[in-house]
Order: sequence, then C-alpha cells, then structure tokens
Amino acid sequence: MKLVIVGASGLVGRNLLDLAIADPRVESIVAPGRRPQPERRKLHAPVVDFDDLPLGASWWAADAAVCTLGTTMRAAGSQAAFRRVDYDYAMSVAALAHQHGTPAFVLNSSVGANPASWFFYNRVKGEVERDLAEIGFPSLTIVRPGLIGGDRNDVRTAEHLTLAVLKGLGPFLPKAVRINPAGRIARAILEAAAASLPGVRMIRSAELAA
Ligand SMILES: NC(=O)c1ccc[n+]([C@@H]2O[C@H](COP(=O)([O-])OP(=O)(O)OC[C@H]3O[C@@H](n4cnc5c(N)ncnc54)[C@H](OP(=O)(O)O)[C@@H]3O)[C@@H](O)[C@H]2O)c1
Repeated sequence: MKLVIVGASGLVGRNLLDLAIADPRVESIVAPGRRPQPERRKLHAPVVDFDDLPLGASWWAADAAVCTLGTTMRAAGSQAAFRRVDYDYAMSVAALAHQHGTPAFVLNSSVGANPASWFFYNRVKGEVERDLAEIGFPSLTIVRPGLIGGDRNDVRTAEHLTLAVLKGLGPFLPKAVRINPAGRIARAILEAAAASLPGVRMIRSAELAA
C-alpha cells in the first residue's frame, strides 16, 4: 500500500507514521509537511507550501491519503487562520489526491463536528466532513476522536488539565467521553486506509476509547 499522510509531524500523525513504517502492508509513505522531517525508511517527506501545493506531484497518486492536519485557535490566532488550516488545507489535499486517482481518504476530524454547530471549531470540522463527501472518493472514512491522549511537543494547559481529570476518572466514564489515545486513533486510521471499504464510514470516539 502507498500512503500519503498530511499532518505526520503531529501527535496522531507521528503515531500513524510509526505504525505505517512498521507495517509490512505499507510499501511507501509520502508525508508532505511545512518543515523538514527526519529521514526514515519508506518515507519521503517533501517540504511544501500548503497555500501553493505542488499540483502535478506524482506522489499524490497513492492507495490512500490521510489527513491528520489541524491547528488550534491559539496557534492560528484568528478564526480565518484556523479555517485556512483545518478546512482549506484539508480540502486542497483531498482534491489533489482525488484528481490523481487516489481512491481512499481518511480524515481525522473531531467529536461534535457539525456544519450547523454554534461552535466555530465544530462547525469547521463539520464543513470539512460534509464537503469531503462531495469530492467523490470511492472510500471515505471520517474519524471523530474526543480528547486525544499522548505526549505533545507544545503546551496546552486547559487540555492538559482535562486529560488529567479524564485519566483519573477513566474506568468510571462512559466510553464516549473517555480519552482517545493517539495510538488507538492512528491504528484505526491505518486499518481504515488498508481496508478502503466502499462508501462513507464513521469511526466514533467510543470506538477509540482507552
Ligand atoms: N487535541 C485534541 O484533543 C483533539 C480532539 C479531537 C480532534 N482533534 C483533531 O485531530 C487532528 C489531529 O490532532 P493532533 O493532536 O494530532 O494535532 P497536532 O499534534 O496539533 O498536529 C497537527 C499537524 O498539523 C500541522 N499543521 C498545523 N498548522 C499547520 C499549518 N499552518 N500549516 C501546515 N501544517 C500545519 C502540524 O505541522 P507542524 O508539526 O509543522 O506544526 C502537525 O503535523 C486535528 O485536526 C485536531 O483538530 C484534536
């Protein structure tokens, strides 16, 4: 299997990259990113400008493309800048993969994604999900994690505190609101890409719970 992964330097993306490199079903991985990444076997990680993606790159043609890209309102600085990453970049990548004949797409979305939501974050996630479904991939998987657990490079105080509380309450909570470890999300993404089941499929947070 040939995989394209955008967002491979992030928490879920790094876990996915590790799994994909170790997986004998995966022949090669192209992980375009905005910064150089360490060299690894099977991996080609071109540095790209997401505002000006290489339209003709042959590596868009794969067996499956995955998007684990995303920013935060804090990092982006404005709603427009957030939307540019979480909506525009995800849609551009999907459109290019589809144009190049990649038949399967997996999006790391979020619990609560809803194009009619009052919450901006959930609305943007819902809009990507809705508009991705219009592109026409033979296989589309939407993964909707809740709070993602794992070691982050950046500091997110509120998220860190919520994770600590949820971790403590873990076994007493319903599965739908438990932490979703990044490794479990990555495994679900990889299996969805490998299976490439026809139609649109949703993987919800309860299926990803620790
Ligand atoms: N945090 C949560 O608990 C949570 C819950 C549900 C859903 N989600 C969603 O799940 C997805 C994956 O989350 P994650 O925690 O793995 O994300 P993450 O660790 O923050 O990684 C985000 C990825 O997006 C890339 N990225 C961010 N801003 C960019 C920009 N302006 N231009 C190009 N690339 C950019 C990052 O690249 P660099 O390494 O170059 O920065 C990184 O590869 C995201 O869509 C997120 O919204 C998160």
